[in-house]
Amino acid sequence: MHNSGGRDFVKAAWEKACQNLSHSYSPYSRFAVGAGLVTIEGILYSGCNVENATYGATICAERTAFLKAISDGNRRFSDIVIVTYTIKPTPPCALCLQTMAEFCAPDFMIHIGNLDGISVSYRFCELLTHPFGPSYLLD
Ligand code: THU
Repeated sequence: MHNSGGRDFVKAAWEKACQNLSHSYSPYSRFAVGAGLVTIEGILYSGCNVENATYGATICAERTAFLKAISDGNRRFSDIVIVTYTIKPTPPCALCLQTMAEFCAPDFMIHIGNLDGISVSYRFCELLTHPFGPSYLLD
């Protein structure tokens, strides 16, 4: 068993992620990403990548969605859906996995796909096996 918020929530998050994909601001890489994030209460947040002329100030779609949720007072999550226009599923980068390490349990679900649907799903602990997280500081 995993911690997924359920098929309906994941479908709704995929739809949101696809909408946000079209909002991507990615003039430098031309690589658009959309994300849909589900809280354990079933509230949906979404995000897209927002690039910057400095390149370094770019933020990924996943972290955009997390920052929107956390700034809204939500810190507990069940699933994220990540979509691109490409066929090859795009996994979250290491910075986004580290953000997940701060807020997500090992069985948080990461679903990856495109406008045709979700093609692969992972548990967070499969993509980041030994996360550095808050428990190390609080020990
Ligand atoms: N990007 C994301 O938004 N999420 C990912 O999972 C991988 C990479 C963005 C960052 C940058 O705007 C573009 O994709 C190319 O790296």
